[in-house]
Amino acid sequence: MTEQACNDSTPALPSKAVSNGIPPRLDLPLPDRADIITDNAIKLAEGTPNPRLRFIFQNLIKYLHGFVNETDLTTDEWMAAIQFLTRVGQTCTPLRQEMILLSDVLGVSALVDSLNNPVEGMATENTVFGPFYTDDTLHIANGDTIASEGKGEYMYVEGRVLTTEGVPIPDAIIDTWESDSDGFYDTQYSNRSHPDCRGRLRTSDDGSFNFRAIVPVPYPIPGDGPVGELLLVMNRHNMRPSHLHMVVEAPGYHKLVTAFYPEGCKFIQSDSVLGVKESLVVKLEHIDDEREAHKRGFPAGSSFKLMRLNIVMLTNEQFKIYRAKNAETKGATR
Ligand code: BEZ
Ligand code: FE
Repeated sequence: MTEQACNDSTPALPSKAVSNGIPPRLDLPLPDRADIITDNAIKLAEGTPNPRLRFIFQNLIKYLHGFVNETDLTTDEWMAAIQFLTRVGQTCTPLRQEMILLSDVLGVSALVDSLNNPVEGMATENTVFGPFYTDDTLHIANGDTIASEGKGEYMYVEGRVLTTEGVPIPDAIIDTWESDSDGFYDTQYSNRSHPDCRGRLRTSDDGSFNFRAIVPVPYPIPGDGPVGELLLVMNRHNMRPSHLHMVVEAPGYHKLVTAFYPEGCKFIQSDSVLGVKESLVVKLEHIDDEREAHKRGFPAGSSFKLMRLNIVMLTNEQFKIYRAKNAETKGATR
């Protein structure tokens, strides 16, 4: 039996060790100072054929080396960072993305999202998508509920989807999801049998939509992995302020990925994933009126909270123009 047959996961060695075939292009100066190493690494990236990738790699090297230099990083610290990143990777499974969570808590996800979805006029702002969206959802009609009974305090969400000129957008598809009042999304329950606290509906001819939901509550992002440990080392909490997620899509309009944050939550200004934007903070009205509750399908004697939303979408054309304008101000190689 050959060695390879003993271990199927180990590829057979070629008869001779060979290079990847790319010839040496440069004779780099042999460093007698640390900064020559940085210059050399940047020069090595110079041969990247794709101009955008070349620009990205050279900046990555510049800032990564700058970080090591400025912090005067010790060998032990660098090893600890490598071991940490290794554990982040090892924590990922088909159902858990610890790498994205790391990007989230460092604010990189929020920054990438903001750069790619610039604020423009009255348009509703984007924010982080998070890991709890599912395509299997409840298809509901306007006025229906997204949450089964007992999942939380009653909330009614009503509003309109509009253009930047205030013209209603009919037939827009709204996907919405939230945690239950215990701070868990339905997907976090191992015995989940059906979607809950999530739904998909369409706007009416006048751009309006309305549905029953529950008052969002703050909840922790996963804290049982390396990212959770990182937050503890930084003495940071792992809470997200209460919010209701929404994705809104309509033909000809730029897809909106957003969330609305009821004001007054104590975590609103220290969101663990830096996703809150001022324009997305909304007031909840307390409605203690039997007839109003009945009209909206809540059981007799109920009071409820009302979330009113005006969602303003950019056309694809508007989005392209604003995004290009934003990119221009950066002067980055595209
Ligand atoms: C969320 O809101 O669902 C979320 C966003 C980013 C990281 C974790 C959770
Ligand atoms: Fe969320």
